[in-house]
Amino acid sequence: MAFKSLDDLLAERVSGRGVLVRSDLNVPLDDDRAITDLGRVIASVPTLQALSGAGARVVVAAHLGRPKNGPAPEFSLAPVARALGEQLGRPVQLAGDVVGSDALTRAEGLSDGGILLLENIRFDPRETSKDDAERLALATQLVELVGGDGAFVSDGFGVVHRKQASVYDVAQLLPHYAGNLVAAEIRVLEQLTSSTEQPYAVVLGGSKVSDKLAVIENLATTADRLVIGGGMCFTFLAAQGVPVGSSLLENGMIDTCRRLLDTYGDVIALPVDIVVAERFAADAEPQTVPANRIPDTRMGLDIGPASVQQFTALLSNARTIFWNGPMGVFEFPAFAAGTKGVAEAIIAATGNGAFSVVGGGDSAAAVRQLGLPENGFSHISTGGGASLEYLEGKTLPGIEVLNG
Ligand code: 3PG
Repeated sequence: MAFKSLDDLLAERVSGRGVLVRSDLNVPLDDDRAITDLGRVIASVPTLQALSGAGARVVVAAHLGRPKNGPAPEFSLAPVARALGEQLGRPVQLAGDVVGSDALTRAEGLSDGGILLLENIRFDPRETSKDDAERLALATQLVELVGGDGAFVSDGFGVVHRKQASVYDVAQLLPHYAGNLVAAEIRVLEQLTSSTEQPYAVVLGGSKVSDKLAVIENLATTADRLVIGGGMCFTFLAAQGVPVGSSLLENGMIDTCRRLLDTYGDVIALPVDIVVAERFAADAEPQTVPANRIPDTRMGLDIGPASVQQFTALLSNARTIFWNGPMGVFEFPAFAAGTKGVAEAIIAATGNGAFSVVGGGDSAAAVRQLGLPENGFSHISTGGGASLEYLEGKTLPGIEVLNG
């Protein structure tokens, strides 16, 4: 890591200085817009606390969801501002706009140690524009909010794989530093890739093979075990010629899965039994069937107990484990046992000395929602896509720019 750290910034003059922080506060909300997993808010606190405590005037940029048509109340950061204030133990102002007159007035009025959260940065379409000049124009306005001697702290690890104005372009305009969260996440990923103790087991779930293809290709060559569950396992089962009923299936990926099984068959492990139901609903009747006997009228919503046992055995002697993606629809209690069982197997292996990393929004949320001990894992990442892209061997623009 060649970039400057938050400690480097704190060692310089910070009191009274405007500091723009990019955080990842993209949290899941329920139908009433209540936050269902505070993980990212909590993970953002140490950097903000340190800056505020040192007297910086902190302006935070963050996104929520993927608004496509400008400002929209359902994408407002209002619930996040409240939660952040609670976690910080001090009020967090929310600007009524991104870089408009309200944001500017509030930023200018910040007292030393004050914290201002800008409204959802993606309300401004320039944030995600592919046009460099458009992004630069937004970045320039963000810089104006922290004044001429401002600094930029990149702390939104979950978004460092995005080449966006508040992640990438601002770092080219301001002295830039990695926040504590970004630095910690990168340290862990470096450990996963450069000094991996064997046996190395990778557990992948979630719905789509297409989302994970690059990481499968990359990890199949380095991992000793690649355990596959979740919605994506049905495309692999279909590639083996097994009927999958009405389970999630990516028809266009069947040939790819067949090739992966042909090439890495000795590394890849698939479930041996599946919990099926007639419909996708919390109150649907669960039934466990062998993985090669899924009835035509049923869909797989979780891996079964024999699969949990098989996966537990595969994980028991691992020295390094990376887990991304739930094994089933853990949000429905009747279909949560597979995810819980595999998580418990990873916790047990960690207790035996394995280095374990939970990568990704859904699996991290599953750990907390299923009441599993967060300290049972070596590290729970705040970045799903970002950690996957790192493990795919891709360059992360938001990290690369910090090195410059
Ligand atoms: C995430 O949820 O993975 C990050 O916040 C990035 O969000 P995005 O995929 O919408 O860019």
